[in-house]
Amino acid sequence: MRSLLFVPADSDKKLHKAMSSGADALLVDLEDSIAPERKEAARASALAFLQEATKQAVRPRLFVRINGIETGLADADLDAIVTGAPDGIMLPKAQGGTSVVHLDAKLTAREAMHGLRDESIAVVAIATETAKAIFRAGTYAGASRRLAGLTWGAEDLSVELGAEANRDADGNFLDPYRLARALCLAAAAAAEVQAIDTVYVDFRNEAGLRRECEEARRDGYTGKMAIHPAQVPVINEVFSPTPEAVARAHAIVAAFAAQPGTGVVGLDGVMYDRPHLARAERLLASVQPRRMG
Ligand code: COA
Ligand code: MG
Repeated sequence: MRSLLFVPADSDKKLHKAMSSGADALLVDLEDSIAPERKEAARASALAFLQEATKQAVRPRLFVRINGIETGLADADLDAIVTGAPDGIMLPKAQGGTSVVHLDAKLTAREAMHGLRDESIAVVAIATETAKAIFRAGTYAGASRRLAGLTWGAEDLSVELGAEANRDADGNFLDPYRLARALCLAAAAAAEVQAIDTVYVDFRNEAGLRRECEEARRDGYTGKMAIHPAQVPVINEVFSPTPEAVARAHAIVAAFAAQPGTGVVGLDGVMYDRPHLARAERLLASVQPRRMG
């Protein structure tokens, strides 16, 4: 998933618009973009949306961001929306692998209850939203086969840390958030799941978004969350491998295939060893069709 677009669950208009945004996934939000008194209405509208949207032949993956496990709202969120058969749940304020184990159990029970295939619902966790979570970033490996990705957040973390800002005057993340970003990347690699970069809230600033996408890709992130449809094309572009990169990956895979058992090949005057082969294979896997259907 290159682009994951947040959509407040209580806005029919935005839900509708999001379907044609080109995003690889939608994050139907029941958490921070929904006022407490609107949670119930948002759950109902999320379910109605899932029931319609999952019928479409070609569509983005549909995730629902529930409220955090410790809020006491997560069970009611899941009870309301699981029958809509979402492709996944986004878990905010995760406190390490134990939170994912906890959510896995909740999902397993509900899948059985509603006749959904076991483990049909994936999980993406937001790994760095609390101070405690920072110290547990390394605990996601092996938590659940559902875990498909990890992402990070700077907004809630900055509130918890008591910070005045999370970016400097040029829009660059300050140290505590650069730490969270690096930990998320390592946590995802350790758990062998996708690393997804956080949102860029300045949604009219396309140049700033592009720069942040390019820095994320450079460091190993393979997708980014969006908050506005205008951000989707930029994210998709930056996180799609170029035709040259795809051709090179095919050439590397072919060169190794032509010499079974070899650990190293030369191609156009450049040396490639096993880690390069693994990277080429990963790149080719990432260009498989992204839309459902
Ligand atoms: N998904 C789908 N459609 C969206 C959208 C989104 N995330 N954000 C904006 N749109 C729609 C608007 O409804 C508007 O539709 P229209 O042309 O039919 O009127 C169009 O895109 C242009 O929107 P714009 O006027 O530029 O922005 P806005 O002021 O309406 O909305 C936000 C700005 C930030 C409120 C809105 O982008 C939003 O709700 N984002 C998601 C917030 C969220 O989920 N946050 C939680 C995670 S951090
Ligand atoms: Mg939040």
